[in-house]
Amino acid sequence: MLTDTPSPATLVVGIVLALIVSQLIWKSFDPRSRLDAIPSVGIPHHPFGFYFGAWDYIKNGRAITEEGYRKYPGKAFKVALANRWLVIVNGRTSIEDLRNASDDYVSLAEATNSLLHLEHTIGQEQYRDPYQITVIRTPMTRNITGCFSDMRSEVVAAFEDLVPAKTDEWISLPAMELVLPVVSRVSNRVFIGLQCRDPDYIKITTQFAVEVAQDAAWFHITPTVLRPIAALLFGHLETATRRAMKVVGPMLQHRIEMDDKYGRDWPNSDRPNDLISWLLDEARGHPARRSVRTMTRTLLNVNFGAIHTTTQGFLHALYHIAANVEYVEPLRAEIESVVKSEGWTKAAMGKMVKLDSFLKESSRFAPGGAVSMLRQIVQDFTFSDGTTVPAGTLVGIPILAAHHDEANYANADSFDGFRFSRMREQVGEGIKHQMVTPSLDFLTFGLGRHACPGRFFGVNEQKLMMAHVLVTYDLKLRDGVRPEDEWIAHIGAANTTAEVMFRRRS
Ligand SMILES: *[C@@H]1O[C@H](CO)[C@@H](O)[C@H](O)[C@H]1NC(C)=O
Ligand SMILES: *[C@@H]1O[C@H](CO)[C@@H](O)[C@H](O)[C@H]1NC(C)=O
Ligand SMILES: *[C@@H]1O[C@H](CO)[C@@H](O)[C@H](O)[C@H]1NC(C)=O
Repeated sequence: MLTDTPSPATLVVGIVLALIVSQLIWKSFDPRSRLDAIPSVGIPHHPFGFYFGAWDYIKNGRAITEEGYRKYPGKAFKVALANRWLVIVNGRTSIEDLRNASDDYVSLAEATNSLLHLEHTIGQEQYRDPYQITVIRTPMTRNITGCFSDMRSEVVAAFEDLVPAKTDEWISLPAMELVLPVVSRVSNRVFIGLQCRDPDYIKITTQFAVEVAQDAAWFHITPTVLRPIAALLFGHLETATRRAMKVVGPMLQHRIEMDDKYGRDWPNSDRPNDLISWLLDEARGHPARRSVRTMTRTLLNVNFGAIHTTTQGFLHALYHIAANVEYVEPLRAEIESVVKSEGWTKAAMGKMVKLDSFLKESSRFAPGGAVSMLRQIVQDFTFSDGTTVPAGTLVGIPILAAHHDEANYANADSFDGFRFSRMREQVGEGIKHQMVTPSLDFLTFGLGRHACPGRFFGVNEQKLMMAHVLVTYDLKLRDGVRPEDEWIAHIGAANTTAEVMFRRRS
């Protein structure tokens, strides 16, 4: 998912500017052309309706998509983004159509690129050759079991460092400032080993996603021919690469040399089992992938995909549990009993059915936004319901409304942490309702072959962190009320400023 958390303030500024400038340098865009047959939502009826609608969408994207969902059940509708329409396709068949369509018609890569300007924000090499996706999907996912004790020890160390809680008093900590570095450390423990603790590296990896979003907003309003120059002058990619290379460059140099010399069979079987090794395996026979610079960029890109997504998922869940402390005891009981027989292992995470359910419910409730599975149509495409969408159109699905539809879930608007564990108790329904299994009712990780390849890693990481927090601390919110999410257009981020209170359990 690409609903990472760009800093809301910078993004507002970016989008406002995009809006103004796109009017000034207006080219051949005609908002009324080939999408006429699809009804629009949130557009006032006057000549500048599109722009007023686009401005309104920035502020009220969630309400506008909900309105469309109610008004056009099972049908497509369109909303105004700063400089183009977004067609929101609705109904299970249309979502299936999107899942089934080949990349020649419906492209995730093109959508991502047109929103994020990947060539300039994550770099040419990564844009042209995103081989890390294969690495995340297979060797990394398969190696979670083997890396689990490292992940566990990093979780413990990171919370020890960042939560100075005592047994006899409550302390209050800004949740985002706590969770972001923890997630960076735990993820990078598996990516690069103990260097994950380097303060500079943590800063670079946690800031990078924000910089990508910020740069993308600027590139959006820069004419195409000027973008390479703008990237050099204002982009953050070069600086981030240089700073990251200062930390990981010597290590990467050493690893490349050892790989050239020994391949997988280092003397004394000393080869680390980490992302660098898996990347190098996948880079054999591809010299372009085997430079310090390219590998640094790959690392930045993997961090871009991993850190903010997991942070958001975990933050939403942390606020949910702190606001619903009645879940703490049953979850603790499950965690303590499973750990007693299985230890802190991936197998143990698999047995924490209630914890899985709680995290999944949190993610059903707050999937990171109102629209997801963004795709760009690359050849005119006709959905099963007859809606035709021309090439070049951005499409998405109304995830929040679907997750809150009574047709998909009973009492869809109430938070029910053990909803999915009850479903799993039914015979034969065991695996189907796990958090990592995407379905037409649960779309947080997308669906089909483009479903988030890092979800096995990310879900295990979230479970491990939450299990540790619950058995180590009592937690609560000062006023007991879940902090409001922060919305901009259709992106709904967990509150970035709220505090959560911790007390060490005695
Ligand atoms: C999508 O593909 C699946 C399996 O191949 C098929 O069962 C389903 O009917 C297809 N959906 C649509 C809307 O074409
Ligand atoms: C870990 O990843 C490597 C790929 O580099 C693979 O050969 C190995 O089988 C994986 N380990 C497990 C336990 O799957
Ligand atoms: C975030 O939470 C804090 C504390 O509950 C609240 O004061 C603030 O308004 C929230 N932010 C937003 C954008 O709602």
